[in-house]
Amino acid sequence: MSREKHMTRREALRKMGGATAGGMGLVIAAANAADVPGLSNSAHKERKMKALAINGSSRKDGNTADMLNVVLAELGKEGYETEHVQLAGSTVNACKACFGCAGRGNCVFGNDIFQELYDKMVKADAIILGSSTYSADVSSTLKAVIERASVVSDTNPGMFRHKVGGAVAVARRAGAMNAIDTINHFFLNKEMFVAGSTYWNIAYGRLPGEAMKDEEAVANMKNLGQNIAWLLGRLK
Ligand SMILES: Cc1cc2nc3c(=O)[nH]c(=O)nc-3n(C[C@H](O)[C@H](O)[C@H](O)COP(=O)(O)O)c2cc1C
Repeated sequence: MSREKHMTRREALRKMGGATAGGMGLVIAAANAADVPGLSNSAHKERKMKALAINGSSRKDGNTADMLNVVLAELGKEGYETEHVQLAGSTVNACKACFGCAGRGNCVFGNDIFQELYDKMVKADAIILGSSTYSADVSSTLKAVIERASVVSDTNPGMFRHKVGGAVAVARRAGAMNAIDTINHFFLNKEMFVAGSTYWNIAYGRLPGEAMKDEEAVANMKNLGQNIAWLLGRLK
């Protein structure tokens, strides 16, 4: 096994600290592990742990929002801080594959909401990604978040290590399983622990409010929230 595999986050970030922006002319201070929220193993012990839900639907306060609110309500009951960010109405551009993020701890492009969103993801202890099912997968907006967050965390190792992940998808009829898989692939590729539920975390509904009538889904979402809370309790 290579020496690289055994580098600590601190060592990896120190190593990458000298990386340049590939000639982009952008100057951002190199990341230091102690300065990067979420990288210190003990940091969360001094504050309330937080669960962040990101809703990839293009429809604000629709079915995906309802399901994420059910998950977050359970976490709130257990005393965790919660935040729900809805991407509807916001632009998240595609990754430009410039790798300017290497050693910088965030994307170098600040012309949309991504940098702010990524900061929130890094600071959170649990990340719940939810999406309406579009063309049998996550929305393109959430996919853009996943692709950019993947590259930033690949070039700045360990930024999501040991966080808890939860996936939620809503569909009118089919394709939600692919959306769940897309989200879980991100979590598993980033050293995160994926919380499950009693069934797949999928709800069925077309018009806003319909998913709340899917009783099995609502029960599943509650259970997902409780399982995330349980896992966070073990990671304290
Ligand atoms: C662009 C688009 C693509 C969609 N593709 C699918 C699909 O592949 N499978 C499906 O079951 N529903 C599909 N739907 C329906 C939505 O997943 C469904 O209405 C869901 O409840 C929307 O969640 P929301 O209220 O959070 O936006 C699609 C809807 C839109 C707008």
